[in-house]
Amino acid sequence: MLTIQPDNYKSIVFFTGAGMSAESGVPTYRGRGGVWSQYNWEEYACQQAFERNPEKVLTFHELRRKSVLACTPHPGHFTIAELEKKHPGVYVITQNIDGMHQRAGSRNVIELHGSLWRMRCHSHGIFEDISETYQSTRCTQCGKWLRPDIIWFGDMLNQDVINEAMIVIRRCDLFISIGTSGVVWPAAGFPRVAKEHNARCIEINPEPNEMSPLYNDTIRDTAGNALPSLFKEDT
Ligand code: APR
Repeated sequence: MLTIQPDNYKSIVFFTGAGMSAESGVPTYRGRGGVWSQYNWEEYACQQAFERNPEKVLTFHELRRKSVLACTPHPGHFTIAELEKKHPGVYVITQNIDGMHQRAGSRNVIELHGSLWRMRCHSHGIFEDISETYQSTRCTQCGKWLRPDIIWFGDMLNQDVINEAMIVIRRCDLFISIGTSGVVWPAAGFPRVAKEHNARCIEINPEPNEMSPLYNDTIRDTAGNALPSLFKEDT
């Protein structure tokens, strides 16, 4: 069984997708039971849908808040968070918007696709809103609808966030990809960047995908099983 000695690496990046949260009970986006097989993203997850019917889109995201709050981080999340406490070069780059890494205790988290727990006014910026139901759906300054600060279909990613992610990827010597189908860009290109910068690349995913051949090692298991075993300390 593959194990990692973290001290052998100067910087470790965990690159996570929806599969990271699956064992916590948060549904993935694609595949059986995936969010986009139940909901049409054109009605719920794009700026046009929000402009057509803000209340419908906000209600959908409020339901997601509720379902995420009913879930808890699993041993895989805690393995990463514990490692960050002991090792100065540990980062999470996540496509997830659920805040589960932070709930487990991770602090060095780069959220590529934003967060369910922030709201944004087009004119007045971003507000934290960590509650089951929205504190407000209208900007207190201008009264316009607030939208969740997440990247919807057709949205541009925040360039500062991508730059930050690129810096830590280029610097890392161990890159561990967990629970992503590797189809949504630019995130899907990150493993290749890590590889080109000579990082050892490991994939944790029960299912293979197009990116799988790129990895040095592949663990066909779930995040909750694989991460604690991968970083199991010798006793
Ligand atoms: N452990 C690890 N991986 C898992 C597990 C698990 N327990 N369960 C499922 N997986 C894997 C699946 O095999 C699949 O490869 O997680 C992956 C989930 O893929 P997607 O649902 O496509 O999620 P993701 O890659 O994060 O999607 C990217 O798409 O719609 C957008 O913005 C949304 O951030 C999301 C982006």
